[in-house]
This record gives sequence, structure tokens and C-alpha cells, in this order.
Amino acid sequence: MTAPLKHGDPITVDVELGDRAYEIVIGRDVLASLGKRIAALRPGARTAVITDRNVAQHWLARTEASLAEAGIAASHVIVEEGEGSKSYAVLERVSEALIAAKIERADLVVALGGGVVGDLAGFAAAILRRGIEFVQVPTSLLAQVDSSVGGKTGINSPQGKNLIGAFHQPILVVADTAVLDTLSPRQFRAGYAEVAKYGLLGDEAFFAWLEKNHADIFAGGAAREHAIATSCRAKAAIVARDERENGERALLNLGHTFGHALEAATGFSDRLFHGEGVAVGMVLAAELSAQLGMIAEQDAERVRRHLADVGLPTAVQEIAGFAQEGLADADALMALMAQDKKVKRGRLTFILLQEIGRAVIAPDVEPSLVRDFLQGKLKRRS
Ligand code: GLY
Repeated sequence: MTAPLKHGDPITVDVELGDRAYEIVIGRDVLASLGKRIAALRPGARTAVITDRNVAQHWLARTEASLAEAGIAASHVIVEEGEGSKSYAVLERVSEALIAAKIERADLVVALGGGVVGDLAGFAAAILRRGIEFVQVPTSLLAQVDSSVGGKTGINSPQGKNLIGAFHQPILVVADTAVLDTLSPRQFRAGYAEVAKYGLLGDEAFFAWLEKNHADIFAGGAAREHAIATSCRAKAAIVARDERENGERALLNLGHTFGHALEAATGFSDRLFHGEGVAVGMVLAAELSAQLGMIAEQDAERVRRHLADVGLPTAVQEIAGFAQEGLADADALMALMAQDKKVKRGRLTFILLQEIGRAVIAPDVEPSLVRDFLQGKLKRRS
């Protein structure tokens, strides 16, 4: 695509899952239509909006106004911002609040927020009264292109991220691209890593388009909607073919095996946002693919260069506190990777690149090879 894009009507992407199919509606100011869309889908349903303190300040009033205009009764539950809210304690508080608000089987949870709120609220909906329906209103780029789509919900265990959860699909996703204007540049960039991921794993033309158009995406031009819609279409197609991650859906984990280990090594803190870990992880996956002779060195460099061009970290050494214990230690990172959900019977699964735009699942990568590769990467700039 080379012609300049214009803002237009909302874009709708279908997630084709039979009797659990739903629409993702993407566009500037589509939040105003939330109430109308819910009323059309589930007439008479009441709602409980789950959000975090920061998102509530910016968007709760508009969300509630949209629901009220459509005659929908709404209560709300506000949690603290950040990964800490994906906990048993917060899930208990939210669940009890939903029961106290008399949310019944035929009512709805509305998840208004980023990935943390979407995962927590979706899981609360999945288990309340053995499962009620929910709507995703993602307010971060990362949530709009990834976590709000596909039905993965859950909380963290003290022993690992997302270890407690359920597949529970929303009945609607409303992604208002104007709400992204209030994200910090760093948060937006982190979400962009997941956008680039779709190009890398399955669509070279999209990756090439991103290389040319990233500035317009960051500036909030119409390229933003196009990028989000293209990402959602890619994810929706994969989820429709492999909802429960028995195969192909694992491709969406490109960059995540390394990325999760880096997130864990930095204590899931602000030192490294999830998308930043994915950016570094995708560069490592590309470099490992090159080392294994699957792609050329120039391809791995092309991946690194694009992510660096948008200001994402592309090497472990760029992570705050690199020299502290854990990050510079290949064995410590290997131990963290061994705890990943993607480990099957002790074997490490990586998503590697066969070319830019074609990722493959490598289910049985020799750990000593990965360790030596990491050791080399960690030494190179230290
Ligand atoms: N975020 C990866 C997935 O939804 O499968």
C-alpha cells in the first residue's frame, strides 16, 4: 500500500469462531458507539466496567456516558494500574464487587483498559457464575492489536506469568484509536513491537509498509487504523484456525520466549515493558535464525534496524540495569526460559524466521546451542 490513507468509517474485522464469532471495531472515536453496539448485541443486559485508576481518569466518564445514552445500567470497579493487579487478591476483590453489584448470568463485564485489565476482567467474567460474557475496550496499542483479541484471559501466579487463566472469547472488541493519543511515547512504542511482529511472522509486504509508514502510525494518522486493522486481521485469522494454541497460534509468540525471560529477569517492572521485551526477543529470534542458517544476516539486521528506527530496544544491553544480576547471565536467562509455559516436556520451543514474513515453530531447539548463542550476544557489547 503506497497511497496516503485517510481517516474514514470504522473498520470491522471479524473473528470467525462459529457460535462464538465476534467483531473488532476499529476507528477514531468509536468509544462513543459502545453503548449502542452492546444494546444491539445483548438488549437488556446490565454492565460492570472494570478499569484501572489511570484509564478511569481519562476514559471512564465517556464510557459510562455511551452506556447511559443507550439505556444500559452500569457499575464500575477500579483497580490499580500495572501487572500487580493480575493477582489472586485483585481477582477476589473484583469478583466480590461483581457479585455485590448483582451482575447476573445475562449481564456483561466491560474490560476498559490495557492488557492487564483485559486479562483480569476477562478471567473474572470467565469464572463469575461459571462464565458470563464480556466486551473488550482496549486502551493501549498492545491491547488493541494483541491481548484483547483471541480470548486469552488470566492472572499471574507467584510462580509465573499467566499461569492461571482460561480461554474466554469476548462478544465484541471496540478499539478506539483516539484513546491511544494519551499513551506515553514509550507505551505506544512498546505496543508497536506487536504490530511489527505480524509483519515478521506472516506478511513481508506489511513489514515493508511499516518500514515506510511508521511515522504516520506514531503521529496518529490514518496509517494507525490501517496498521491496527491489519494486525487484528492477522491475529483473527490465526485464532480462527487454532483457538486453543494446539499449533499455529504459537507463531504469535515470536520474540516471547526470550522476551518473557527478560521480563522475568527485570522483575516484570517498568525497567522493561512487555513490548520492549518482545522487541529484544524478536531481534534475538532473528539473530538465532540467522545463526542456524535459516535467514541471511542481512535479514536479521533488517529486523533490528526497523525496531531501532522506531526507538525500541534491540539488545539486552539496552535494558536498564543490564549489569545487575540476572540479565547479563546466560544461565540465569536459560533457567527463566525453562519455566515458560511454552516448554513442552522440558524442551524449549522457539518461533524462528524462515524469511521475513514467514515464521516457523521450532519445538525442540537444543538448549546448549541457545545458551552459547545468548552467551555470545551478552558478551558482544559488555
Ligand atoms: N498473545 C498471543 C496470543 O494471543 O496467542
